[in-house]
Amino acid sequence: MPKLLIATSNQGKIKELEALLKKLDVELLTPTQMNLQLTVEEDGKTYQENAAKKALAYSRESGWLTLADDSGLEVDALNGAPGLHSARYAPKANATDADRRRYLLENLKPKPRPWSAHFHATIAIATPQGQVYFAEGNCYGEILPEERGENGFGYDPIFYFPEAQKTMAELSSAEKNRISHRAAAVKNALHVLRPLLSAG
Ligand code: IMP
Repeated sequence: MPKLLIATSNQGKIKELEALLKKLDVELLTPTQMNLQLTVEEDGKTYQENAAKKALAYSRESGWLTLADDSGLEVDALNGAPGLHSARYAPKANATDADRRRYLLENLKPKPRPWSAHFHATIAIATPQGQVYFAEGNCYGEILPEERGENGFGYDPIFYFPEAQKTMAELSSAEKNRISHRAAAVKNALHVLRPLLSAG
């Protein structure tokens, strides 16, 4: 069976990508399983740059076809912040997801509601020969001033998805995987992923 390395240590992303890629005949590998400990500086100016950097570094190191996701939350009232910096958006060191949600809400407090926002995901797929392919996805909603729900990760408890009248953290994982930015990006990646896997 062909193999695909998922270049992330974010357990939330790994769980979602495993479910989203289930229908492909592929064995998914994680850096932990492969004892790979790379530090990839996410200093690119775009999601594509960061995703490509991660995918290429892991692919080069492992020799396997590799998929990396670079994603973020873009809030209109904050001119698109935290955006590329979503994973590191907090004034203190060693901040948790909960700290980042609190910090975001503090920054939004003076701004009039609704706080429209969207999640973005860029997927990069790198071959061991150094080629890179991209796919993107978005999910539109708004930020709520209080947390709701226990599922998901990151900003999910404060991201309201109007069509379901629930926050992302109130959706089941199957529901989130039907509507999320990551689900859309994976869907858009399938037309490059399938041939690469069968060629591999
Ligand atoms: P990165 O792609 O490793 O730079 O991290 C993306 C960051 O964006 C995550 O650490 C989360 O804070 C946020 N994020 C991305 N996707 C989601 C999601 O599906 N739910 C909640 N937060 C997300």
